[in-house]
Amino acid sequence: MSKKRYKLEQCQLDDLPLLREVGLQAFTEAFAAQTNKADFDKYVAMAFEPALLAQELDSPASAFYFAKRGGQVAGYLKVNHPPAQTEAFGDNCLEIQRIYSLSAYYGSGVGEALLEKAFEVAGAHQYDFVWLGVWEENPRAIRFYKKHGFEVFGSHPFLLGTDLQTDLLMRKLC
Ligand SMILES: CC(C)(COP(=O)(O)OP(=O)(O)OC[C@H]1O[C@@H](n2cnc3c(N)ncnc32)[C@H](O)[C@@H]1OP(=O)(O)O)[C@@H](O)C(=O)NCCC(=O)NCCS
Repeated sequence: MSKKRYKLEQCQLDDLPLLREVGLQAFTEAFAAQTNKADFDKYVAMAFEPALLAQELDSPASAFYFAKRGGQVAGYLKVNHPPAQTEAFGDNCLEIQRIYSLSAYYGSGVGEALLEKAFEVAGAHQYDFVWLGVWEENPRAIRFYKKHGFEVFGSHPFLLGTDLQTDLLMRKLC
């Protein structure tokens, strides 16, 4: 697939059904095979619960973006401003909470297009850095972040259902 540009669009409240579908599909493609089914089901029921997604879409502290090509969604991004971040690192940073390509688009540059959007948002808010947590057993994503200049600065626990995992914390200055 060619590294053609993607069109980035901020999701609105009426995108909720599509966002939920894309979010579930991308998470399933990425992690279902490596995750105990009960933990997986528990996590997705919580993370993609429509009322929660509606609240997050409506909040100025979070934003979701679709990356589209030819009118089709290829991936999505969720960013959190300081009030909504999963861990507090001050008022000068943006969290990437989710960055997902659908599997049909892996390696097509959609991840890079989503990252660029995150840095555009961070730049518009004059933040100093962008940070994220990535499962320590996700080498492809860790390689992707390192390739784009992120560095590990710590770790934190991440509960997937009942499975307490370790996420590496990575950041990159704006
Ligand atoms: C991490 C992710 C967003 C990167 O996006 P991307 O657009 O695929 O990024 P790249 O084009 O740089 O490719 C990333 C890697 O996938 C590899 N890749 C290419 N085609 C592939 C395919 N068909 N299947 C699997 N991997 C493929 C690339 O070679 C590259 O590996 P490398 O770093 O060893 O060179 C994307 O891989 C993804 O959504 N993964 C699953 C979800 C996930 O892990 N999200 C991050 C959670 S913290």
